[in-house]
Amino acid sequence: MGSYPEVDPIPLPAPVWLFKVLHLFTMSLHFTAVHLLLGGLLVGTVWMLAARRGKGGGVRTEAAGAVARPLPIVMTYVINLGVPPLLFTQVLYGRALYTTSVLIGAYWISIVGLVMTTYFLLYYAERKATRSAPRLWPTLVALVCAASVAFIYVNTMTLMLRPEVWPAMYAANPSGVHLSSGDPTILPRWGFMLTSALATTGIGLAFLAQTRTGALAVYLRQVGGRTSLAATLAAALAGAWVLTSQPAVVRDGILGSAIDRWAGVLWAAGLAVVAAAGLAIAAKPTAKGWGLPTLGAVGAYLAIASWVVVRDGIRDVTLRGKAYEVWDRAVVTNWGVVILFLVILLVGLAAIAWMVHALVRGKGSEASHA
Ligand code: HEM
Repeated sequence: MGSYPEVDPIPLPAPVWLFKVLHLFTMSLHFTAVHLLLGGLLVGTVWMLAARRGKGGGVRTEAAGAVARPLPIVMTYVINLGVPPLLFTQVLYGRALYTTSVLIGAYWISIVGLVMTTYFLLYYAERKATRSAPRLWPTLVALVCAASVAFIYVNTMTLMLRPEVWPAMYAANPSGVHLSSGDPTILPRWGFMLTSALATTGIGLAFLAQTRTGALAVYLRQVGGRTSLAATLAAALAGAWVLTSQPAVVRDGILGSAIDRWAGVLWAAGLAVVAAAGLAIAAKPTAKGWGLPTLGAVGAYLAIASWVVVRDGIRDVTLRGKAYEVWDRAVVTNWGVVILFLVILLVGLAAIAWMVHALVRGKGSEASHA
């Protein structure tokens, strides 16, 4: 039976709890951006397809254009907010992650090419949208690339929990050209990411509507509200599927942990807020205002952040059952470095908030001049 490599003898330079908090927080930011990217590409593709078949006329094409424009910026956040959790994952779970990424090495390395292709196509589609030119293919291919990256990540993050299958995988093919198979948790996790992405994106569309006027704004609110409502229900089912697909011992471990139980409750509450905001937005799409989209965004972030905690619980409980205790590490804290890091993190977050603010204001004045 396979097991994890020996722990690195070099002690951690900061307490495990600090790495955990930072990991969970930055992970929630990465997932927020991933949701908007995947969801934006999904609705953009559906609108372009429908417009091509002559359904819905110009407003769908306009809506697809409105979504295409911010996506290159969203992609910047997907990448930059993916780096910090990657560093923290390596610190806490490197022994599991490194072996896994070598086992599926060809796919893992292909993420670089897929991310670059997605980025290029997003810019290409955005340029075309500015000129109102057709852009179904770039959007569709970007969606396939981004969804593939998500699938490879799900593969990696689940395979790192199964050291017992590593020797057979390596023996079957040591070149890293096959993905993990036979794990019933992979599809639910991927499906959960796609459905949750749509729920968050519906709220994003309501925000986008604030920067537009006329029929386009009404359409964005209507579709955004309905998408959030329907996708929230789908995400709730997919989330339940993720939990029920876990081995009984992991399910029991999650239910036995007060933190994970509370995170589950908050996740459900967050989804309920998104659904309620979506319903209210769709019921009165002519009503302009930041209140409901903001409420929906609070619900969406609550759902994302609390799911990140549940997801982390699934990993730790599974690893514990295989003699990998993440809390069991030698620590020699270097407080100078820790404080410097925290200051830089705060400055970085303030800069991100300022850029998002400037973007929304810029879009607002763009709309008022339209
Ligand atoms: C198109 C681009 C991307 C998409 C669609 C995407 C999607 C995802 C998804 C779906 C997961 C969750 C997998 C699971 O646990 O089930 C994930 C995890 C993760 N992603 Fe991304 N990702 C993208 C780009 C990136 C980039 C560029 C980085 C880093 C530079 C990154 C870093 C991470 C990390 C570190 C995790 C998991 C860490 C952990 O579990 O501790 N991602 N991503």
